[in-house]
Amino acid sequence: MSAPVVRVGADWLALREPVDGAARSTELASAVARVVAHHRHQVVHDLGSGTGSMGRWLAPRLPGRQHWVLHDRDTDLLDVAAADPPIVDGVAVGVETRRDDLTRLGAADLAGATLITASALLDMLTFDELERVVAGCVEAGCPSLITLSVTGRVRLTPPEPLDRRIESAFNAHQRRRAGERALLGPDAVTIAADLARDRGAQVRMVASPWHLGASCAGLTHAWLTGWLDAAAAQEPTLTEALPDYAARRRAHLADTRLRVVVDHLDLLILPPR
Ligand SMILES: C[S@@+](CC[C@H](N)C(=O)[O-])C[C@H]1O[C@@H](n2cnc3c(N)ncnc32)[C@H](O)[C@@H]1O
Repeated sequence: MSAPVVRVGADWLALREPVDGAARSTELASAVARVVAHHRHQVVHDLGSGTGSMGRWLAPRLPGRQHWVLHDRDTDLLDVAAADPPIVDGVAVGVETRRDDLTRLGAADLAGATLITASALLDMLTFDELERVVAGCVEAGCPSLITLSVTGRVRLTPPEPLDRRIESAFNAHQRRRAGERALLGPDAVTIAADLARDRGAQVRMVASPWHLGASCAGLTHAWLTGWLDAAAAQEPTLTEALPDYAARRRAHLADTRLRVVVDHLDLLILPPR
């Protein structure tokens, strides 16, 4: 039986992009820029690139000439990425797109990489897939910067009694079975760090929370809808309470009172020398 694939929409990625850019750790970006600085020509492989948001954010922070290789299984997203490459000093960076399954990349696929990146990816993987991805990153012998992995923790202001129940139902949904695949959801990032350490790599993790609210009302509205829909799908006993809760939260957003912190972690993996 083939496993169902969860498709990600370009509209959702466009809504996320400015908030993702504000959330990613500039401390880890600077650290990785220092580590790769001895290469005059960077070859960056972005795993699960979507529309290329990571490259547009990171390329201006990296030294030297660059070539980005964008891996995704979704050709529609790759087409958007190819049409909107990163710009460094007013010049478009070279971008190559590859439609493939990033959980099946071999050493030859990543040969010559000076840096591997990913963003908002890990929670969609199973343990076996994550193990192969981390092994591939460490064996490639270059640093890997994996940003914006959800931790499952969400804080809403003003707080409400239902918040924690919805949070745990949402997280259980993130850990659901999709066909034969058991998704790791918010557990993925700490498991990835452990897998990398087991292979002798050094690991750094830095918090990279989203700050949602009236300044990014479109994303906040879409995030809230997705959060509540997933919680309701997971926990039918919530269904009765959710319409009133949703209406209150949308009213809080409309009168600019709603603030949401969605925790993420950025992970830097430095392979053994
Ligand atoms: C949430 S999106 C993030 C996209 C992009 N990194 C960003 O930060 O905007 C996850 C991306 O990973 C891709 N993806 C997930 N699993 C994949 C797999 N096994 N092989 C290739 N691409 C995959 C999806 O198609 C999607 O574009």
